[in-house]
Amino acid sequence: MITEYFSKNPEVRAKFIFNFIAPAYRKVEEKLKANYIVAMDKLAGAVPLRGKSVLDIGSGTGAWAVRFLDQKVSRVEAVDFSEKMLKVAAEQHPEIHFSYGNAEKLSRFEDNSFDITTASYVLHGVKAERREKMLREMRRVAKEAVVIHDFWGRTPVFVRFLEFMEQSDYKQFKKSFTQEMEAMFREVKVLPVRAGAAVYIGFI
Ligand SMILES: C[S@@+](CC[C@H](N)C(=O)[O-])C[C@H]1O[C@@H](n2cnc3c(N)ncnc32)[C@H](O)[C@@H]1O
Repeated sequence: MITEYFSKNPEVRAKFIFNFIAPAYRKVEEKLKANYIVAMDKLAGAVPLRGKSVLDIGSGTGAWAVRFLDQKVSRVEAVDFSEKMLKVAAEQHPEIHFSYGNAEKLSRFEDNSFDITTASYVLHGVKAERREKMLREMRRVAKEAVVIHDFWGRTPVFVRFLEFMEQSDYKQFKKSFTQEMEAMFREVKVLPVRAGAAVYIGFI
């Protein structure tokens, strides 16, 4: 219901927004493909991916998750809290197992149960306190590294408008995310890619 857009609970708002835009996200995924390939190549240059198991959190329609298959990983699972995104994702990428999951409570996944946990354009959407919860959960579930593909540097104008509508935390995210990662991981690498993004890698 449209009233959910005006909810004071940011989780209710976010679910409404992502359920609302899910059908159009098929097209967004096509547009994102070239940038995501570049980002994945950069990641693969820094972290060997062949044979690894990967959990993608906030997978949307699977645009980021599917790029791991190009790298011959052994397994990709993906979770999202938008039922409509999950429906489109399963139609687009039947080779990936998508299921319902909340990034802040990954309790059905055991400690160290994937080599890599990852999230693309998810963590900028929430304030630092919730971001920390998500990162902690991702670190708990991962054995080797946590990979975040998200905003860095200059954000294109039309994207700034979308982030304004979403009331995301992308401005603060760009300022403080590297330090937030450094507070949690043994080593952090930030690899800028194109279109105002970077791949942030936290090694465990
Ligand atoms: C901007 S989309 C990005 C989708 C995909 N990762 C990509 O890069 O194309 C953000 C996605 O994160 C999901 N999401 C946001 N907060 C979440 C949470 N707390 N738990 C699970 N999914 C979440 C949304 O439902 C949405 O599908």
